[in-house]
Amino acid sequence: MSDTMDLSRTDDAKLPSARIGATAPDFVARTTEGSVQLSGYRGRWLVFFSHPADFTPVCTSEFIAFQKQIERFNDLECDLLGLSVDSLYAHLAWVKDIEARFDVRISFPIIEDISMSIARAYGMIHDESDSTASVRSVFFIDPQGVIRAMVHYPLAVGRSVGEILRVLAALQTSDTDNVSTPEGWMPGDRPVLSAPSNMHEADARSTGDGAAWYYTLRGVDQ
Ligand code: BEZ
Repeated sequence: MSDTMDLSRTDDAKLPSARIGATAPDFVARTTEGSVQLSGYRGRWLVFFSHPADFTPVCTSEFIAFQKQIERFNDLECDLLGLSVDSLYAHLAWVKDIEARFDVRISFPIIEDISMSIARAYGMIHDESDSTASVRSVFFIDPQGVIRAMVHYPLAVGRSVGEILRVLAALQTSDTDNVSTPEGWMPGDRPVLSAPSNMHEADARSTGDGAAWYYTLRGVDQ
């Protein structure tokens, strides 16, 4: 039996919910680039994000910024997928208008979610927001289809695409090098060793030089 979301359902309680560590709820949806299935992105990273409304100032600034950085997402083997509760025709008109006014062609797909089924399953509709508008949510989904990070912003505050790229790079570094990344980490900076999980590991990190056993920057040979 398929786990793909049936978009005709409106009983939110029965829909799978989006949590860090959970498989991203699957769905098929109409987008500006044709039909898209979330599980079709397996094998690559995906930044899946919602915006409150087409033809609005903050959302327009975010879309232009995402598009201008698309090569950097590609370099990290990551695709972009947008969503709002606006209709496909509103999305198409907005994309054409952005191209005409800002000379930026939005090349990643934007989902129409008029029924809000996907937005509700992903927790993109919050009580504090307008009931018909998704908040600014970002889901980082790994090549196995697992949600690895999620952030939510209110209507009035635009996201930083640079920060989204930083989190993506940090997740990938944490996976490949089995490390953690401290505050403000940027690619090329030293990560920290992941927290010791038992006394033996804690003892091994107690080097006697006064350094904290629970805070070890990874050296070049570690
Ligand atoms: C904005 O992106 O600027 C915006 C979004 C929703 C409502 C109002 C403004």
